[in-house]
Amino acid sequence: MIGNVVTDTARQARRPGLRTALVVGIAGVLGAGLMAGPADAASTLGASAAQTGRYFGAAVAAHHLDEPAYVATLDREFNSVTPENEMKWDATEPVRGSFRYAAADQIVAHARGQGMLVRGHTLVWHSQLPSWVRGLSTAADVRTAMTGHINALMSHWRGQIHSWNVVNEAFQDTGARRNTVFQSRIGDDYIELAFRTARAADPDARLCYNDYYIDDANHAKTRAVFDLVRDFKTRGVPIDCVGLQSHFNATSPVPDNYRQTIERFAALGVDVQITELEIPGSGAAQADDYRKVVNACMAVARCTGITVFGIPDHYSWRPYATPLLFDSEYNKKPAYEAVLSALNAGGPGPVPARS
Ligand code: XIL
Repeated sequence: MIGNVVTDTARQARRPGLRTALVVGIAGVLGAGLMAGPADAASTLGASAAQTGRYFGAAVAAHHLDEPAYVATLDREFNSVTPENEMKWDATEPVRGSFRYAAADQIVAHARGQGMLVRGHTLVWHSQLPSWVRGLSTAADVRTAMTGHINALMSHWRGQIHSWNVVNEAFQDTGARRNTVFQSRIGDDYIELAFRTARAADPDARLCYNDYYIDDANHAKTRAVFDLVRDFKTRGVPIDCVGLQSHFNATSPVPDNYRQTIERFAALGVDVQITELEIPGSGAAQADDYRKVVNACMAVARCTGITVFGIPDHYSWRPYATPLLFDSEYNKKPAYEAVLSALNAGGPGPVPARS
């Protein structure tokens, strides 16, 4: 297991243009991995994930970073963060050409100070999109706005973002494209344009397509994303990863073929990251489902990290569902113990992100 971490880290170190933040992040992961060998289980989520070269992250909100219990839990348990809302278009470019980075900067600075990785979320999405973008009427104007937005954000955080969700939720559950302003004005090619623009803007960031309800390989939406990735790989359009949001609940449970779905994405030559994991509950059933998800990721070398969609239940976007690993007093739930032991059980380490 450690061998994989070293190999991956050595590969990273050889990559030209690697930025300090990434070195710090990966060195932190490596250090944790070396201290906690396979024989002695690590006692935090991040350290146990690091034993196989993976990260374990949380979605965080800048406005909680002044709460000691929140920060203590974040810093103790996690080695990756995703800003929950602070990098979205409405937060970063509410007025055309006028950029606001302060809230996201706060999260990035905190994470880097702790040696954590940062996932960028998200550049092109129909939701939390300012009305000025939705009001653009020509293809040329939407293209200019979209590439300008990608260039601005990715340049601002260049070298500091481990993976970017370049495009989020571009498909409907039927597998058809979602009818967004990007789709209706630019057409099918907008996703390719976004990824090509992103690669040029920050060559060190892994570029992900991110979506929900793509956890079951047999669903039409999942097949549509398989087709997108296969097409990009065939034509040399840059894409490094697929993010499975994995917002599970009673009507959308963890599918039995979840591991196979991850394997099929990986077989297309991309990493898989579980990016917004949540499963409602508080007892053994929730713990079983979390275990199933972590085991599935651990079984696939290219499943490189897991992010839960918040830290304590009461800060979840769906607090009534209590879908997270800590209760509202920051006590560890049974699901936490299930995740920790699944991470400690090991699995194949990640392989290089780009094939
Ligand atoms: C949610 C946030 O958690 C909320 O705070 C916000 O009000 C709405 O968006 N898919 C995504 C996430 O990619 O960014 C969304 O986050 C949930 C669904």
